[in-house]
Amino acid sequence: MSSSVTAFVLGYTGETGKALLKQLSGDNYFSNIVLIGRRQVDLGDLQIADDGRFTQRVIDFDEVEKYADDFKGCDVGFCCMGTTRGKGGAAHFVKVDRDYVVNSAKVAKDAGCSHFQVVTAYGADKNSSILYNKTKGEVEEQLKNINFQRLSIFQPALLLGKREESRPLETFFKVISFPFTKLFPTLGSVHFDVLARAMIYNTKQQTSEKVEVIDNRKIHELSKLAK
Ligand SMILES: NC(=O)c1ccc[n+]([C@@H]2O[C@H](COP(=O)([O-])OP(=O)(O)OC[C@H]3O[C@@H](n4cnc5c(N)ncnc54)[C@H](OP(=O)(O)O)[C@@H]3O)[C@@H](O)[C@H]2O)c1
Repeated sequence: MSSSVTAFVLGYTGETGKALLKQLSGDNYFSNIVLIGRRQVDLGDLQIADDGRFTQRVIDFDEVEKYADDFKGCDVGFCCMGTTRGKGGAAHFVKVDRDYVVNSAKVAKDAGCSHFQVVTAYGADKNSSILYNKTKGEVEEQLKNINFQRLSIFQPALLLGKREESRPLETFFKVISFPFTKLFPTLGSVHFDVLARAMIYNTKQQTSEKVEVIDNRKIHELSKLAK
């Protein structure tokens, strides 16, 4: 089915973002997909067919307000942006995972986006003493205040799949949680592809809920329904 729905994707060069693009590439539901990131990428490297629906925009997230035009006309926003504390320290992590996401969302809303879908994480809690969980909780709260017509918050547990970049801590968690993720596949982990499928499926569903929180189990359920 083809439609005139336009989307933008933040974090499209990351593992979840790439899985999302691959699936969007084979799905005509969106007539235009604007890829918004900090650097230009060869679409061939992302394994998506350049069928004319994808446009890349390079922006400076420190001054996202200046790039409002790049968000214009987008009905739906997908956000899989994030970094790790290990890459640039705590302040940089908060800047990217909270401020860049919220500031971009505000610009998108003002530019006409009605449905914003964001990946936060299992355990997100603005009152947590753990920086990661607290930041993810804060981003959720601040996004709720933007008052989108519809806000969908995806809270995956451990993300599984092949990652280009080496992340020793993440690998360590994957190894120690392996028996658990095998025994309870829908509880403690989710593959990038499954998350991406659930996000796309969700945009096509109607709901009366203004804010939906989609936990790891529900991500698996939505993904199954999409098949
Ligand atoms: N890893 C897990 O197990 C796990 C579990 C639950 C939730 N999550 C969350 O899920 C989301 C997606 O995770 P992922 O593993 O798919 O992400 P990822 O592979 O680390 O990709 C992150 C994306 O964010 C962009 N980004 C990073 N720093 C940036 C900056 N300074 N300015 C602009 N863009 C920047 C990256 O762009 P570049 O390519 O240009 O760097 C990339 O597109 C993240 O928010 C993460 O915290 C992760």
